[in-house]
Amino acid sequence: MKIFVPADSAALALGADDVAAAITQQARARGLTVELVRNGTRGMIWLEPLVEVEIDGVRHGFGPATPGDADAILDGSSPKALGPVDELDWMRNQTRLTFARCGIIDPLSLGDYQAHGGLAGLRRAIAMTGADIVDEVTKSGLRGRGGAGFPTGIKWNTVLGAQAAQKYIVCNADEGDSGTFADRMIMEGDPFTLIEGMAIAGLGVGATRGYVYLRSEYPDAISVMTRAVEIARAAGVLGPDVLGSGRAFDMEIRKGAGAYVCGEETSLLNSLEGKRGVVRAKPPLPALEGFLGQPTVVNNVISLATVPVIFEKGAQFYADFGQGRSRGTVTLQIAGNVARGGLFETAFGMPLGTVVNDIAGGTASGRPVKAVQVGGPLGAYMPVSKFDTALGYEEFDAAGGLIGHAGLVVFDDSADMLRMARFAMEFCAVESCGKCTPCRIGAVRGVETIDRIAAGDGAAIPLLTDLCETMKDGSLCALGGFTPFPVMSALTHFPDDFARMKEAAE
Ligand code: NAI
Ligand code: SF4
Repeated sequence: MKIFVPADSAALALGADDVAAAITQQARARGLTVELVRNGTRGMIWLEPLVEVEIDGVRHGFGPATPGDADAILDGSSPKALGPVDELDWMRNQTRLTFARCGIIDPLSLGDYQAHGGLAGLRRAIAMTGADIVDEVTKSGLRGRGGAGFPTGIKWNTVLGAQAAQKYIVCNADEGDSGTFADRMIMEGDPFTLIEGMAIAGLGVGATRGYVYLRSEYPDAISVMTRAVEIARAAGVLGPDVLGSGRAFDMEIRKGAGAYVCGEETSLLNSLEGKRGVVRAKPPLPALEGFLGQPTVVNNVISLATVPVIFEKGAQFYADFGQGRSRGTVTLQIAGNVARGGLFETAFGMPLGTVVNDIAGGTASGRPVKAVQVGGPLGAYMPVSKFDTALGYEEFDAAGGLIGHAGLVVFDDSADMLRMARFAMEFCAVESCGKCTPCRIGAVRGVETIDRIAAGDGAAIPLLTDLCETMKDGSLCALGGFTPFPVMSALTHFPDDFARMKEAAE
C-alpha cells in the first residue's frame, strides 16, 4: 500500500507530521505494509494535510486529515474521502507545466523525477550550442516570473554575448512578497526542476557556477534544496562533466539575510558577496556586471523551474499557451480571505474575476469581495469593477496594476483601504534600504500624511498624491518606486474610505 503525506511547509504547519506518524502507527498495529512517501503539496492548501492513498495506480485523497483520521483512512471508510485527486475541479481546471510534478513525486528521488519527465530537457540542451539554447528560451516567450516580466531569452542573450572568464547563474529565491509561496512550494516539492533549469541556463550562457539565494525564513526549502544539490552532484547531473557532456556546471545554496530588499537583484548580489544588502545603481546591469563584477543571469525560481519543461516539450509547445505577449502559464498563488486558497497554474488570459469567484470560491467570510491585491505589497488593489482584466502583463499594466510574482490577496468588504494604504507606506519605511531619498524619507512622510487624512485633514490628500508621484519617478528601485501602486489604487478606487475618516472627524 502506498500512502502520500506532504512534507511541504504549509502541510507541516497544519500537522502533517502527526498525521504521518499516526498512519505509520496504525498500519503497524494492523500488520499492514505501507510505503509512506513524503511528497510536496498539490497546492490545495485548504485541504492540507491532504493524505493520498494509491489504489490500482489511482491516488485517492483524504483531507484535511488529523491524526484521529488515520484509522478510517486505512479502512477506506473516512468521511473525509475526496475521491481521485486528479479529478478534483481544482486539479482538472489547471494547466500544470511548471508544477507538473509537484505533489506527485517524492521530491528527493531522482529516479521518480526522471520517471516523470525530469532531465529530458537537460539531455536535449546538452546536444545544443549555447546560442541555440538561448534561442529556444527566446522562442518560448518566457518572461521573468519574479515580477518584472522581462524576456528571459533577452536577458540570457546579454550574458551569452558578454566576454568573461567566469559567468554565474543566480537564482533569486528570496520570495518576500506577501501572499506568495510558489518559489517555496516548487523548491520543497520538486527541487530537481530548479537544479535542471539552472544547469540548462549555465550551458546556455556559458556559466559554470550557480547560487540559489534562499531566504532564511524557508528552513524546509533550504534543507530540501541542499540535499537535492548533493544528490544531483553524486549522480553526475552537477559537476565538472554534466551528464557526461564534457561541460561543467555546479551550484550551491546560500541563506539570505532576511531583508525584503534583498529580493531586489542588485541588493541580493551585494548580500551574496557578503556585503550589506543595499541596492546598486543600474547600469551596469547584472547581466554584464553582476556577482563579483562578472556577467550574471539573475532569475526568479519560477522562471528557472519553467526552463526544463520548455526544453522537454519544445519552445513552441510552451508558447502556444497564453495570450498576447504573455506566453505560457502563470503560477497563481491565491491567499487572503478566500474559501479555497493555494497554487493554481493556468495559461495567461483568465480574467481576474474568474480566479477570485470561481476558482477561489469567493471569500472565506462569505461577505462580498472588496478588493484583490495582485503582485505583493507593491501591487495595486484591484476593485471588483476591474475583475474582467485578463491575467497578462500588458493587460494588468493597462488596468493600473501589475502581475508581479502572481500572488493574489483577497479582501472582503470589511477591509479599510485607508489602513491598507498606510500599511503599504509603513512597509516601505521599514524595509527601505535607505539609499535614496524619495523612498527613505518619502515613505515616512507618507505614513504621516495618511495619518493626517485619517484625522480628517482632507487637504493632505493632494499632498499624498504628489508624494506618490515623487516616489514613483525618483526612487532607485521597485520598493520605493512601486509603493505608490497600492497607496494610489486604494485612494482612487475606494475614496469613501478616505473621506469617511474626514467625516467622522468633523
Ligand atoms: P527591472 O525592470 O529593473 O528589471 C527586470 C530584469 O531585467 C532585471 O533582472 C534586469 O537586470 C533585467 N534587464 C533589463 N534590461 C536588460 C537587458 N538589456 N539585458 C539583460 N537584462 C536586462 O525590474 P526589477 O527591479 O528587477 O524588478 C521589479 C519587480 O520585482 C517588480 O515588478 C515587482 O513586482 C517584483 N518584486 C518581486 C518580489 C518577489 O518576492 N518575487 C518582491 C518585490 C518586488
Ligand atoms: Fe533603497 Fe528604497 Fe531607494 Fe530602493 S527605493 S534603493 S529600497 S531607498
